[in-house]
Amino acid sequence: MSAEKSGWLRAAARSDLGQGEVLGVEVAGHAIALYDVDGDIFATDNICTHAYARLSDGWLDGDLIECPLHAARFDVRTGKVLDPPATEDLKAYPVRVLDGEIQVNLD
Ligand code: FES
Repeated sequence: MSAEKSGWLRAAARSDLGQGEVLGVEVAGHAIALYDVDGDIFATDNICTHAYARLSDGWLDGDLIECPLHAARFDVRTGKVLDPPATEDLKAYPVRVLDGEIQVNLD
């Protein structure tokens, strides 16, 4: 399919992600977190770079996600780590909405 060729993959229905919420999904075997920040959608890896925790179990505050395990915080727009104990940034991915679907590009 052309969607696959161009690197865009379905992550969720747009209606699955409520305003101000974070949602954990699997995309092509990758654990991805989707975030709604005032209606804009962002995507990063869902696993914290510090130890093993799912950021989708944490707390989204504006454009910051706080890890549920040791409270590291990341900027969901860029994946940049803002507060320890994590020191490594998350990978962030391009996102688009097409026909009511949230799609991410993992390339
Ligand atoms: S696992 Fe996320 S801060 Fe430790």
